[in-house]
Amino acid sequence: MFNHRFSAVAGTLLVVALVARASAAQDAPDPNTQREFGAKLQVCGACHGNDGVPKGPTIPVIWGQQESYLEKQLHDFQVGNRSQEVMNWMAGTLTQEEVKPSTVVFANRKWPVQARPAAAIAPPPGVAVCQACHQANFMGAAQNEGAPTPRLAGQSYDYLVSAMNRFANGERTNNADMVQIMKGLSPAQREAMAHYLSSL
Ligand code: HEC
Ligand code: HEC
Repeated sequence: MFNHRFSAVAGTLLVVALVARASAAQDAPDPNTQREFGAKLQVCGACHGNDGVPKGPTIPVIWGQQESYLEKQLHDFQVGNRSQEVMNWMAGTLTQEEVKPSTVVFANRKWPVQARPAAAIAPPPGVAVCQACHQANFMGAAQNEGAPTPRLAGQSYDYLVSAMNRFANGERTNNADMVQIMKGLSPAQREAMAHYLSSL
């Protein structure tokens, strides 16, 4: 009697476990229904802004950024191909399965409207080169020359210049083209480009 009931319960549990596994394989994690995952994404807002406006000048806008670019960066932070203490840690809070749905959330939000300089800034010499990969309007591309390229238009001056300098001095190496291109520019040229791009 006991054994019979026990095996019935065990059988039910097995069915439940199999169903759970099958649906986990089909459905990507959903931050709207999975509280723990949703809570992880709440943390991002502490720095990247709950309205998409970053909380500091060296923190990038991620709302409305190219999805494939965000995905590559989170992966690069996770495996250490891109090093920044906070983000290596933050990306590490997400499971492999949670990376893609996280980037979908942020990419689908609207790039925040921020104050622009009253007068347009003239494009500095050499900036046309950047358009080959970052697009004519500097909005980035899902894929260009074999890699996702980020939107640069309207990213903050401080973040842009720091990203460009890190490529130039070899601290950020997660794209060989960007390292080469930034090494070929003087600090003043990088500053002029960051100034222009942040004004767009
Ligand atoms: C404590 C502050 C902080 C928190 C919390 C934080 N970030 Fe970041 N994030 C940063 C900073 C600073 C950078 C810039 C890193 C650098 O300069 O290389 C960054 C960069 C990024 C980038 C690269 C963007 C680009 O344009 O290259 C992505 C993607 C990103 N964060 C996603 C997230 C996600 C998703 C979360 C939540 C799981 C999160 N961040 C939580 C501070 C934070
Ligand atoms: C051959 C294609 C190519 C060209 C040309 C190019 N870029 Fe990039 N750029 C990329 C790619 C790809 C990335 C993303 C690298 C990665 O995966 O982290 C990138 C990243 C960046 C970033 C980092 C943005 C962020 O959110 O962290 C900045 C800033 C940037 N490029 C500025 C420039 C400027 C300015 C020029 C022109 C002088 C330029 N790029 C020319 C391909 C290019």
